[in-house]
Amino acid sequence: MSTPHNSAAPGQIAKTVLMPGDPLRSKFIAEHFLDNPVLVNNLRGVQGYTGSYHGVPVTVMASGMGMPSIGIYSWELFKFYDVDNIIRVGSAGAYTADLNLFDVFLADAAYSESTYALVQGGNTAHTLYPSAALNAKLEKAAAKLGIELHEGTTHSSDVFYRANDGYLQDVILNHHCKVVEMESFALFANAAVLHKNAATILTVSDSFVTHQETTPQEREESFTRMMQVALEAAAD
Ligand code: ADE
Repeated sequence: MSTPHNSAAPGQIAKTVLMPGDPLRSKFIAEHFLDNPVLVNNLRGVQGYTGSYHGVPVTVMASGMGMPSIGIYSWELFKFYDVDNIIRVGSAGAYTADLNLFDVFLADAAYSESTYALVQGGNTAHTLYPSAALNAKLEKAAAKLGIELHEGTTHSSDVFYRANDGYLQDVILNHHCKVVEMESFALFANAAVLHKNAATILTVSDSFVTHQETTPQEREESFTRMMQVALEAAAD
């Protein structure tokens, strides 16, 4: 069995999948952190590898950018490959002054204006939640590794380039969003409908407060701490 977006054979995908947005980051994680990584899906260049971490099978595969993209890949992984856990490992823009570049952020909720959950499963909620069990494992892994985790609500936005910033005040003040990225809401919606587990851990790559940003190379290489937390949780 394969799916329209995944050519892996049954059994080639592990029960836990790490999903960066960027295919190059997927390859980087596989090559630097997994033992015996095998490329199991490269349709559209998503760089899906299965290997092991501390003896536990783990798959890493890119989600692409945005909710439609992660919606497709995560649905197929949960529904057709019987994946139990998906941990998104991504980047985020900081909305608040207490977050600095390279801080690691665990989403305890995802707010979105998106109609993804409504169209997909009739869910009218605009705030969705990750798996408490997966988040607990991520917190435990971070504590074990001595890595500070910031926590809060992520804004899952369909918009990267904004014509003006007026709208931000609503998202920050009324919906208490501390960071922005573009995928978690759809991932959490799929997990809820399919009774699976999803979580999101992010590294701050830019700030709406200081207007600092990281370079693509820094982004690829510096996300190591987040990946270690995610892999440690995956192997727990
Ligand atoms: N991911 C990283 N930075 C982002 C930003 N500024 N907006 C949306 N998604 C992001």
